Amino acid sequence: MRRSWLRAGALGGLSVQAMLITGSVRAESPPVLPAGTGQPLAVRICGQCHSVELVMRHRMTRRQWMAQIDTMIAKGAKVEEEEFDALADYLAEALGPEALSP
Ligand code: HEC
Repeated sequence: MRRSWLRAGALGGLSVQAMLITGSVRAESPPVLPAGTGQPLAVRICGQCHSVELVMRHRMTRRQWMAQIDTMIAKGAKVEEEEFDALADYLAEALGPEALSP
């Protein structure tokens, strides 16, 4: 069940304006995905097989995140269609190319 929704233009105007990560995270705090609408979803789905820290190390465009989610689906991740879009939106915003490094 391969799924690929390359709706590149659908959310073309998405821009990262909020500074989602501040530099003030202390060393002892556990890795936490940046706040956002899709954050709980990402924690639930993307933390199943590996830690979300692995996800947080990456900075990608929406298109690249969509390809990444597809790869995860191929590995066995269960992602519904609405969840796919919500995850792509969230990841592209919270962990887009312009987001600060962790
Ligand atoms: C069914 C299990 C599973 C789920 C669920 C899952 N992944 Fe993965 N993911 C993997 C495996 C297996 C790897 C390879 C792990 C490794 O290389 O150590 C991986 C690796 C990754 C990598 C690193 C790729 C690289 O080349 O460094 C990223 C980024 C990633 N996953 C993102 C996600 C995101 C985002 C989600 C949620 C949509 C997710 N994963 C959900 C299994 C999963």
